[in-house]
Amino acid sequence: MPVENPRILTKNYGTPQSWTIDAYERSGGYSALRKALTMEPAKLVEEVKAANLRGRGGAGFPAGMKWGFLKPVPGKPNYIAVNADEGEPGTIKDRTLMELDPHRCVEGFIIAALALDVHSVYCYIRGELVLAIRRMEEAVREARRKGYLGDKVLGKDFKLDIVIHAGAGAYICGEETSLLNSLEGLRGEPRLKPPFPAVVGAFGAPTIVNNLETLATVPTIIEMGGDNFSKLSRLHDMKDGGVRLYGVSGHVNRPGVYEAPVGITLRELIEDLGGGVRKGRKLKAVIPGGSSTPVLREQDLVNAPDPKHPLHRWHGKSHLDVPMGVDTMRGLGTMLGTCCAIVMDDTTSMVRAAENLMLFYAHESCGQCTPCREGCAWMARLCTKFANGTATRQDLDTLLDVANNIMGNTICALGDGAAMPMLGILKLFRHEFEAAIGHEQPSWGGVNA
Ligand SMILES: Cc1cc2nc3c(=O)[nH]c(=O)nc-3n(C[C@H](O)[C@H](O)[C@H](O)COP(=O)(O)O)c2cc1C
Repeated sequence: MPVENPRILTKNYGTPQSWTIDAYERSGGYSALRKALTMEPAKLVEEVKAANLRGRGGAGFPAGMKWGFLKPVPGKPNYIAVNADEGEPGTIKDRTLMELDPHRCVEGFIIAALALDVHSVYCYIRGELVLAIRRMEEAVREARRKGYLGDKVLGKDFKLDIVIHAGAGAYICGEETSLLNSLEGLRGEPRLKPPFPAVVGAFGAPTIVNNLETLATVPTIIEMGGDNFSKLSRLHDMKDGGVRLYGVSGHVNRPGVYEAPVGITLRELIEDLGGGVRKGRKLKAVIPGGSSTPVLREQDLVNAPDPKHPLHRWHGKSHLDVPMGVDTMRGLGTMLGTCCAIVMDDTTSMVRAAENLMLFYAHESCGQCTPCREGCAWMARLCTKFANGTATRQDLDTLLDVANNIMGNTICALGDGAAMPMLGILKLFRHEFEAAIGHEQPSWGGVNA
């Protein structure tokens, strides 16, 4: 069965000047906002709940439920902080929305603001995404000129402005509470939770932090109705609704960003959308959703024989043929994450791949928590020893030990996000680390490339 190509979120991609307000309005843009202005805020939240929209930032938390957690405090404003930091290696989806359809993002922010009684939206964009920042800034200016923002949104007694804030290139500032600190001009370090941002967020006020794609999906939900949107998904019955952006990068013939229903399989993503593994080579491993998610490979699902098991209907199938959803990927011992897969063919040294990842986390750890600061640096150092052939058997035990001691022992999930892929690689490819003892690994670029 070919993958459905709904072209909802990406319907304007590739049209002339798609980033301008004229093009957006011509394609029916801002009509969802007009509809939203006729609806009660509570009804807007209800539609998002009915859409089964799972957050697109990585954790997959239901967006409608999160909105329901906002705890207004008398005398304080509510805020929305849009997470467009997009620093996860392999993840390039929010960038396409901002560059090619910034008004869809702006419209989504405005509808969310109406739903949550917010009058200031902060959009925090990764500093390196210069074109995205320029297009979002221009979109906000255009929206102000046309009365979609300002003292009276489309003449209604509702005041709203959007602030575009460029980050300075720290991965940690994608973590929601670091993002808030950075926004406030403080050091980008995670805060202890609770209190959660919905209770105490930006500038001490209740704040909903959502990923950019999560909010850019909202106009469609309002336009077509939450339930109709949810049913576009192949995993509607698992409360994982709608369509979303998938990324695929690495050793595939057509790397890129594609729109498809929630619940296509990794095999469909790699073969049908990504054009298959490059040069007809064999797939070795795939990281399903940004570098923090444990790796998968061709391997049968064998632990769901019980009909009550949530993955029972895929029992006996390859992991690559299980639909990609928040809960299904968790059932496979990994995570859906940002839904942007990194594909590795059989020329890849998993030792070098692990080293590459761990160097990233060691560099990006903010240093606040000892297990993450020291542990990520040690994992990187040990992987380098395996890569250059100087590791011992003891180093393998130490690597496992260090990774296990990071898990669950840090304020934010950066540490887990480093340890999980390390443990995942060791679980499936331990033999490559054993074989690397005393043998330098081929340089990055592949075993037989
Ligand atoms: C180290 C780290 C980096 C993160 N980077 C991002 C990011 O770049 N973009 C993003 O949307 N979420 C990121 N997250 C997840 C956010 O903390 C948060 O869960 C998300 O913005 C919530 O939005 P959602 O519910 O709409 O998915 C990151 C988390 C961690 C621990």
